[in-house]
Formats: sequence, structure tokens, C-alpha cells
Amino acid sequence: MTAIKNLTSIAEIYKTDKLEHGYLNTYEKYFERIRDQKLKILEIGIADGKSLLMWSDYFKNSTIIGIDIHKIDIQEKKLDRNNIKVHQGSQSDEKFIDEIINEYRDFDIIIDDGSHLKKDVIKSFHLLFPQLNNDGLYVVEDMQTSYNHFFGGNPFDLKFSNSHMNFFKNLTDRLNYQEIANPFYISHKYDAKITNVSFYHNLVFVRKGVNDKLSKEVLNHSYEDMKFNEKSSRFGKSTRYYFKYKVFYKIYTFFYMLLNMLKRLLLLRF
Ligand SMILES: C[S@@+](CC[C@H](N)C(=O)[O-])C[C@H]1O[C@@H](n2cnc3c(N)ncnc32)[C@H](O)[C@@H]1O
Repeated sequence: MTAIKNLTSIAEIYKTDKLEHGYLNTYEKYFERIRDQKLKILEIGIADGKSLLMWSDYFKNSTIIGIDIHKIDIQEKKLDRNNIKVHQGSQSDEKFIDEIINEYRDFDIIIDDGSHLKKDVIKSFHLLFPQLNNDGLYVVEDMQTSYNHFFGGNPFDLKFSNSHMNFFKNLTDRLNYQEIANPFYISHKYDAKITNVSFYHNLVFVRKGVNDKLSKEVLNHSYEDMKFNEKSSRFGKSTRYYFKYKVFYKIYTFFYMLLNMLKRLLLLRF
């Protein structure tokens, strides 16, 4: 009986650069418990096909779909296996991605190891994240490019630039969107759809799922309305609570919001 190989041992056979990058222990942590399932796995960026071969061995019951902007010679790269599918096109070409979606419909794991340019990383996320199944994972490799202006990153303004790292950092607020005590909050398209965002050295994992638990602190993004309802249901509606929460607290929230808008305007942060 042959022993079941772990991901690192398989990677050593094909010599994928995911080994040097040090990604494999993290991948194994996420994938070990699901490796025998029948999954649809999409990887952006094929190159020599080394990672496709690795995934094909590791996820024996799954379909591995690879896309690359360049033509890939399937025979030469030894990718002519039943569980590997290869397509040529760009990760940020809407028409091409639509064709991929029409062919495969939905995915369980999507790995972006393509151009690593900010514009492609963010656009592919917008195009493909909706096609992930619930509990599915969207992984982006080589996030070091976000600290390099030649890839559309920004090494000089780590917090407020529109780099790809900041795009993913901002997704963490989608985990807690229901807690935001801003009565003027405008909902975001990924609110309620993300259950986890994890960062590792040069790697990001985003887990899709239903995150629609109501806040215990705010009612429709208003702390003052929640407090008013809470107090009135315990002690009865009174003018005192009305003035405290519906008038005084509301005016305070409004001015605090105006102050922050002014600050953002002065600092040119939009
Ligand atoms: C780092 S290599 C992929 C390595 C492979 N995933 C592995 O681990 O063995 C990046 C690949 O992305 C491809 N690529 C670059 N820009 C792309 C784009 N816009 N859309 C799709 N693939 C792209 C390149 O042609 C190259 O083959």
C-alpha cells in the first residue's frame, strides 16, 4: 500500500515555486480536511503547470482548472490528465471570465497566482468571488507586490493608498459591517458574504459564507436607536430617554460624522 503524500512531498516532485515561497504549510492547514472531496478548483496563472500537477495529485477527486494569458502546451507540460482543464485568457478580461463561469458555474477554491498587478488582482476578485460556493476560499499569492509601485502597489503610503493589500484589509470591515454605528452607512457589496479574512506572509485567504448575524449593539447602524429601544422596553417610554437618545445622542453622532468628513476632505482621503 502506498503512503498518502502530504502537499509538501507532492510539491517536491513537481518543484513548484510555492515551495520556496513557503506557502505549502498554510495551504495544507486549510486543505487537508477537504482533499478527498469532489471540488472545483480554479488557479489563475499556469506557467510550467507545476502547481496544476501538484493540485491534481493532491485533490484526486477534484477538477483543477488553470487559466493563463499565454498559450500553454498541454502535452509539453504533461497537463493532459483527466482532472486538469486548461484555458487561455486574461484574468481581468470580463468576456473570457464569463466564458469560464458559464462552463464551470461555481468553484470551491480560487487561487490567484497570475499577473500580481493591482488592477488584475482586484478585478479578478470582483469577477470571480461571486462564483465561489459558500465556505469556499479565495486565495491571493505574492501579496509582496502590493508594497511595490511597479505592480500598482504603494510602498510610500501603506495605510491609505488604494493598493491591493488595502483592498483586502478593507474587506475585514465587511466581517463586522453590522456593527458600524453610522446611521448613514451605505451597504457594501461584500457585506454579509465573508466569514473570514486571513493574512500570512505574502498570502491572503478570504472565506465566503453567510455572515448575517444581527448586531447586539446597534439597530440599523444606530447605537442611539438601540439604546432608546432597550431602555424604553425595560423602563417604559419616557421623555427623558427620548431626549437623551433620540435628540442629544443623535446630534452628537451627526456632528462626529461631520467632523470626520471634514478631516477626510482636508487630508484628501476619499
Ligand atoms: C507565477 S506564474 C504561475 C505559476 C504557477 N501557478 C505555479 O505555481 O507553478 C504566473 C503566470 O501568470 C500568467 N499571467 C500573467 N498575467 C496574466 C493575466 N492577466 N491573466 C492570466 N494569467 C496571467 C503568466 O503567463 C504566468 O504563466
